[in-house]
Parts: sequence; C-alpha cells; structure tokens
Amino acid sequence: MEQNAPSDLGTRPEAGSSRAIRADVAIVGGGVIGCALARELAGRGLEVVVIEREHPGAEASSAAAGLLAPQAEALRSSAFFELGLESRALHAAWAEELFAETGIAVGYRPCGILRCTFADGGRLWRDFGWQAGAGLPVAVEDGAAMAARTGGRVSGRIREGLFFRDEAIVDSARLTQALARSAERRGVRILSEVSARRFLLREHVCRGVETDRGPVEADQVVDAAGAWAGFDSGLPFEVPVHPVRGQMVELRLVGRDLPTVVQSDDVYLVPRPGGSVLAGATLERVGFRNEVTLRGVADLIAAAVALLPDLAEATFVRAWAGLRPATPDEWPILGPSPVAGLFLATGHYRNGILLAPITARLLADALTGSLSRDLAPFSIARFESRPAESLSTAPPQVFG
Ligand code: FAD
Ligand code: GLY
Repeated sequence: MEQNAPSDLGTRPEAGSSRAIRADVAIVGGGVIGCALARELAGRGLEVVVIEREHPGAEASSAAAGLLAPQAEALRSSAFFELGLESRALHAAWAEELFAETGIAVGYRPCGILRCTFADGGRLWRDFGWQAGAGLPVAVEDGAAMAARTGGRVSGRIREGLFFRDEAIVDSARLTQALARSAERRGVRILSEVSARRFLLREHVCRGVETDRGPVEADQVVDAAGAWAGFDSGLPFEVPVHPVRGQMVELRLVGRDLPTVVQSDDVYLVPRPGGSVLAGATLERVGFRNEVTLRGVADLIAAAVALLPDLAEATFVRAWAGLRPATPDEWPILGPSPVAGLFLATGHYRNGILLAPITARLLADALTGSLSRDLAPFSIARFESRPAESLSTAPPQVFG
C-alpha cells in the first residue's frame, strides 16, 4: 500500500500550527467509501483531502470477503436491494478503469454464488424464488449441477441449491488500494496517519475538520469513518453507527480451484487465485474489539467442512477480523446531515464493497448539487424518531 511518507509532514500543519490545509471537500476515512468518493470528486474537478488515521484500507475494507452479492441474501425487493443491483452493475467497468489507471488488478470475477441448505428442500426457493418473477437470474440446481459447480466437493447432505449467476467477487483490499492510488493520481491528497478529532462548526455550518495535526478547512466535509463514524460526540446529532465484528479464515485447497462462491446458512466460501478459499464470516456485537477468537475460527472451519467435506484436508493460511459499520436497520446512511456542509457516507454494514461505486456517484452528485434522485430511504432523518438505545439491542448472531 502506498502511503504518504513521513516527509509529507512538511506539507501538513503541525499540532498547534495555525497553517491550515484547504480543500473543496474534506473526507474523514480512507476506507473503500472514502477513497471511492474522493476519486469520483477529483474526477469532477474538485480539490479533495482524505484524512485517514492509519493508511487507506486499514480497517473493514481490507478485511472484507469481496462479495458483490445483492441477490443471495435478499428476501424481498426494496430500495436497498435496488441500490445493490445498480452498484453491482458498475463494478466490471470500475475494475477495468482502475486497472488502466493504476495497473492494479482488483480481482473482479462474475463467478456466481451457489447457495445451499441442509434444511428440507424448498425453503431456499420460497425465500428467493420471487427474484425469478422479477426477471433476475436465479436457478434451482440438482445434485449433479451442484457437484459440477464445486468440482465435486459439495456435501451429499445438501438438500437444495440455488445458483445466482450474476453475483460476483472482487479482492476488497486490492480494490481499496487501487481506489486510493487512482484518487491520488487525480490529485487527491491522502493524509495518512492523521486522526480527525472533531468537525469544525462555525455558526451551525461545518467548515472543516480539526485533526491531531491541525485544521483542515473545506467548503464541504464528509464523514466516511466506517464503524467510527460517531467519533465526534460534540455534534448536535447522533450518528447511529456501531461496529459488528466479522472474523474470516483463509484456507489453501488441495486439488482444483473452487469455480464459484458456495454458501450455506452458516458460512460462505469465496475462491481466491492460487487455490485459496476465504471462509466467512462471524457477526458479533463485541464493541470495537477487532480480535480473532478460537471460537470464531473453529466455528467457521466446522461450517466450511460441513459444506465442502474435503476442506478437512485444506491447510490453514491465516485468520483476521474487521469491524463492519452497522446502522439500526442495516441500511447505509447517505447524504446531507442535520449540519449544513456536513455529509454522511457510512453504515454500509455487510455491503460496503458492493455499494462503493454507487455511493461514490450519489454522494458526489449530492456534494455538487446535481443529485437527481431521492435519497430519503438512506437519509439519517429516518432515525430521528428512534430512541438511542435501539442502536445496540439487537440479539447477537454468529454467522453471515
Ligand atoms: P472502513 O473500511 O472501516 O474505513 C473507515 C476508515 O476510517 C478506516 O480506515 C479508519 O482508519 C478511518 N478512521 C476512523 N476514524 C477516523 C478518524 N477519527 N480520523 C481519521 N480516520 C479515521 N462488504 C461487501 O460488500 N461484501 C463482502 O463480502 C463483505 N464482507 C465482509 C467481511 C468482513 C469480515 C467484514 C468485517 C466486512 C465485510 N463487508 C463486506 C463490509 C465492508 O467491509 C464494509 O461495509 C466497508 O468496508 C465499509 O467501508 P468504510 O470505508 O465505510 O469503512
Ligand atoms: N457481506 C459479507 C459479510 O459481511 O460478512
């Protein structure tokens, strides 16, 4: 990952210095959302600064499995589902553009998802069959077809399988790296190892960001700080985002690569080049504890082996964890905040990689006054009447 070297500090304001950096737009957070938006805005001719506490992609965006999968978990149509479909359709061109601009291959593959269940046959179709009626590709697979899709690996105990042909994958760490590099090539200044302390409000208008290196002044400011989006407790409104930990395990297969994503109710298995498979992911409400636990790893491995029994012969490569930015209703928060000049692009929970291109486009439209659609379903205003305690009382789940 390219980072600003310490020598860049010469161009940064030192702590206590009155010399401020100025930009049209300041973005807090250099994850996939902040980098995608910065790149988009720079492409539209704006001067952009990204303030990143560590380095681009340091948190959830590099931990993600990289599923571009609006269909495989959608039980009904909704504004969120439509947003996901729209964003998935943008990824192929994004991958090409990013490769041309940066030389980084982001691993986009429209390999589809085989969703399986051990439960009685018919349940998956009852849950997802509505999508066929909506004209989307989803097909029932028999045992022979499932075996062919998995190189003969799928468990004989699977009772039903659906194939979502249009679902895709990407390497999320490489995607974020490519977005950051492309953004810099377009003129974005990424301030790595700089922490935002608070938003600068003057007469109820956001004018910039106070950082541990001094002020960054901007006409418009975006909070894209992921699970930490509520870092400024002095704001006159609450940013209702909380962390949900996801643990992930990488395994090395013996034999042929897995041709497609395979998913059960308990685990998803994502093929990676070179014979690796990612098994993910836990869903844990444990605050900001970004740790790998033996239980998390053991449960993921058990679920992976139940789905593809010959994974018992796979070798362990590594395990990691990331913190998803979740909102009370699990939809992102996009658009203006109650403070003029301050925008929100956060709360993407389990779908930030999927939703990055559409988020960049919509937020850039909002910031440049060219938004031609209603963002109300994703506005922070939808939480106004909710009590604060509803933010953290959902029961814990184990798997995604
Ligand atoms: P982050 O990537 O967390 O970026 C926020 C950045 O803000 C961080 O780099 C952080 O250092 C910085 N920051 C925070 N506070 C400050 C501050 N005060 N000052 C400066 N910088 C600050 N999504 C999918 O679409 N598909 C998947 O398959 C998928 N799988 C996942 C699997 C796991 C295990 C996890 C954990 C997540 C997964 N997700 C997936 C979700 C996805 O990773 C997130 O929705 C997405 O990365 C959120 O991006 P972000 O930029 O908002 O947050
Ligand atoms: N979208 C996959 C996950 O969040 O685990």
